[in-house]
Amino acid sequence: MALLDVNDVFFAYPDGDSVRTILDHISVSFEKGHFYAIVGSSGSGKTTFLTLIAGLDTAQQGNISFKGKDIREIGLWEYRRNHIGMVFQSYNLIPYMTGLENVLVAMGISGKTHMKNTAYELLESIGIEKNKANRNVRRLSGGEQQRIAIARAMANQPDIIVADEPTGNLDGETEDTIIGLFRQLARDKDKCVIVVTHSEKIAKQADVILRLHATKGTFVIEENH
Ligand SMILES: Nc1ncnc2c1ncn2[C@@H]1O[C@H](COP(=O)(O)OP(=O)(O)O)[C@@H](O)[C@H]1O
Ligand SMILES: [Mg+2]
Repeated sequence: MALLDVNDVFFAYPDGDSVRTILDHISVSFEKGHFYAIVGSSGSGKTTFLTLIAGLDTAQQGNISFKGKDIREIGLWEYRRNHIGMVFQSYNLIPYMTGLENVLVAMGISGKTHMKNTAYELLESIGIEKNKANRNVRRLSGGEQQRIAIARAMANQPDIIVADEPTGNLDGETEDTIIGLFRQLARDKDKCVIVVTHSEKIAKQADVILRLHATKGTFVIEENH
């Protein structure tokens, strides 16, 4: 049993009088301690796939199970709250708050001293020192904001971190450091990290590459190394 099992998932969007198939009976498994890259042309369905494994939408056929249990049975809200963290291209931080407050909100509490220390430690582990954690997030660079978004995704210690083109707004050097962080989360913290990317350079650093074929709606799975 894998950490996350996608079993025979079919997903289509309504398209006029007919439907457009995006994912055509996909089966794939994800393990702890592995870094996965999902690549595919624009519009192939990468975001749709992440939406399903993040429990934000449900497939028309097939199922997704976490530790052997259907995520609908766990409850999608419960699953999202405790087992998965999400990172987006545009960071999606709350703009009028500090980095620390963004992490505390994700922890579901605010201002409790012991949680504050946990949040500072989490931010520090991801390269954000106290002085930056206490700054309004709008006054931080893109790379720093994305680090805070990663810390926020880890706030409830999920086993799975998913990221949708997380370096799309960053320069090459910052991209490398952010991808380094994702690799570390998989290798050192035993997380299951799933990153959607356009970049072959990023894909090459993954343990497994999933190539989504737009016309077929299926994955070709490549093990790296
Ligand atoms: N809510 C929706 N309703 C109808 N079509 C959608 C919806 N969301 C996405 N699509 C279509 O599904 C296809 C896949 O979208 P998406 O998963 O966002 O692709 P990607 O992330 O690979 O660029 C696209 O053609 C997109 O226009
Ligand atoms: Mg997308």
